[in-house]
Amino acid sequence: MKGLILSGGAGTRLRPLTHTRAKQLVPIANKPVLFYGIEDMAAAGITEVAIVVGDTAGEIQEAVGDGARFGVQITYIHQEAPLGLAHCVLIARDFLGDDCFVMYLGDNMLEQGLAEFVERFEARRQRPSLLDGSDAGPCRAQILLAPVENPSSFGVAEIGPDGRVVNLVEKPAQPPSNLALVGVYLFDSVIHDAVRAIEPSDRGELEITDALAWLIHGGHHVSHQLLDGWWIDTGKKDPLLECNRLVLDTIVRRVDGGVDGASKVEGRVVVSPGAKIVNSTVRGPVVIGEDTRIENAFIGPYTSIGKGCAITDAELDHSVVLDHSRIDGVGRITDSLVGQQVQVSRSPDLRRGLRLMLGDHSHLELG
Ligand code: TTP
Repeated sequence: MKGLILSGGAGTRLRPLTHTRAKQLVPIANKPVLFYGIEDMAAAGITEVAIVVGDTAGEIQEAVGDGARFGVQITYIHQEAPLGLAHCVLIARDFLGDDCFVMYLGDNMLEQGLAEFVERFEARRQRPSLLDGSDAGPCRAQILLAPVENPSSFGVAEIGPDGRVVNLVEKPAQPPSNLALVGVYLFDSVIHDAVRAIEPSDRGELEITDALAWLIHGGHHVSHQLLDGWWIDTGKKDPLLECNRLVLDTIVRRVDGGVDGASKVEGRVVVSPGAKIVNSTVRGPVVIGEDTRIENAFIGPYTSIGKGCAITDAELDHSVVLDHSRIDGVGRITDSLVGQQVQVSRSPDLRRGLRLMLGDHSHLELG
């Protein structure tokens, strides 16, 4: 079993952050989203992993390296443009050979991990009739499905009485079920025939739903598993903050940095080495990165602050602040995503009005 993680793409929905950085490297509880996916692969016993990269290849390679620290061996595959998820399979042919593989979207996060999903596929490949109650041929692909309230916004699966997937439709006006495709797929080598056979969709991409539909309509056995736990596509601000909240809920308290006598650090809080908390209250769950200084401030629940930041005379909660940013004297900030090296401060002369320097596609909501 090999792994294929998709980390190309444009990331338009996370602009302006993705003007300058890969969306798969945006941190959740101060760790890049992509690292959780690689760790899940390693935990499922997968050691050969390829990452499909696009314009942000250099940054991703620098962050991930050769994979040794995750216990996997990483190969990078360059995609010249985001031509679709099935296009990623097409260009990974040499790496994948005839092996089975798990394909994972590099900006998704799953609570349940991959191990059980992979084990079930392997069992179904060996004894399909026993597990499905049908005598269909060997399982050629397995998809992960989650019930959603708005199936018309997703790829939706229709399941037959024997548990097999009988149809897949992309963003249907009249959904055949409420079961949406989650960004994790298992395939054997027959998928290579499918991705070669399909044509680009109206949006110009080779769609993985079309490749799966090709398998199903060709009589191949495609099975499914229902998701256990949460799943989040972190490619937009509010789901990203929600994901940060869910992961922070699992952290263990650890205070390595300095906390002065006038400060309170309550609950599950990580204060990284070199960080300093001065005359402040930090109420967990919160993570504070290395060499960050919090002074005369309140850091409220569900907040992640990167390394090398300075938060002074401010209140912050339910927010993610990336590395080397400075927030000074601005009152309360909530539900916010602040990029790297951002400066937010109060003007000494407010009669002159707000003074802004915002990047393209920035969002600013004033109270
Ligand atoms: P998407 O979120 O579907 O697409 P995107 O990255 O272009 O984002 P946006 O819609 O905000 O512009 O992609 C899911 C994952 O798959 C993401 O990690 C990027 C990756 N991907 C590729 O590697 N190659 C591709 O051709 C596409 C479409 C996505």
